[in-house]
Amino acid sequence: MSWKGLGTWWVDELADDPSYDDVITPMLLDMLQPEPGLLYLDLGAGEGRVMRAVEAAGAGVVGLDLNEDLAGRAGASVVADLPQIPFREDSVDGVYALLVLEHVEDHGGVFASAAKVTREGGVFALVINHPYWSSPGSTPIQDEDGEDLWRPGAYFQPGYTDIPIRDQTVRFHHRSMGDLLNAAARAGWSLERLEEHAHHDRTASIDVPRLLACRWRLSREG
Ligand SMILES: C[S@@+](CC[C@H](N)C(=O)[O-])C[C@H]1O[C@@H](n2cnc3c(N)ncnc32)[C@H](O)[C@@H]1O
Repeated sequence: MSWKGLGTWWVDELADDPSYDDVITPMLLDMLQPEPGLLYLDLGAGEGRVMRAVEAAGAGVVGLDLNEDLAGRAGASVVADLPQIPFREDSVDGVYALLVLEHVEDHGGVFASAAKVTREGGVFALVINHPYWSSPGSTPIQDEDGEDLWRPGAYFQPGYTDIPIRDQTVRFHHRSMGDLLNAAARAGWSLERLEEHAHHDRTASIDVPRLLACRWRLSREG
């Protein structure tokens, strides 16, 4: 049940997928607003595609990933299993995580570990599958008149959905918006911005919130 054997799959999966260049990477950069000369930590960096985009803005980046193959491809990435972040306290100016937090059971631990390694006033930028979309059982349905609707699933319950990929199973954890924001607040992250990206589902003629992006600033005094 892990990403350890899926390095090649992830690289192949991204090869012909325009959604990263068109939507996902711009959303992360918009949240992070990387500043030249500052050092950022990419949590779950994969093969480093977003690290390269942040570097192109003139910032420094180090990555962290569970998957040794992907960390090797990314170059400046260490191998670690979140929520562990084996970095010194106050060693980075900001952290970000793109489509990663949903794969980690202890999301509160990620916010806490990130707060330790980030300097006071640093930022945390996050993009995840939207909690409305990720709740187990969330799916398009049609009523008896043929109208397209969306069933929100078990939104308020923490849960997960297991997706088979090749010979592995990847777990997508679900937590409500309240669970997510309160866990961040407990670790000292003050919310500065929140954006929701709509998605026109192919199987339903309605827009549903598909991606969630947040930007926090670290305030340990708070
Ligand atoms: C959907 S991919 C996203 C990769 C990258 N952030 C991107 O957007 O291109 C999820 C990544 O999270 C990593 N990952 C999953 N669970 C992890 C954990 N517990 N600790 C560290 N990395 C993890 C996977 O190995 C994979 O590279």
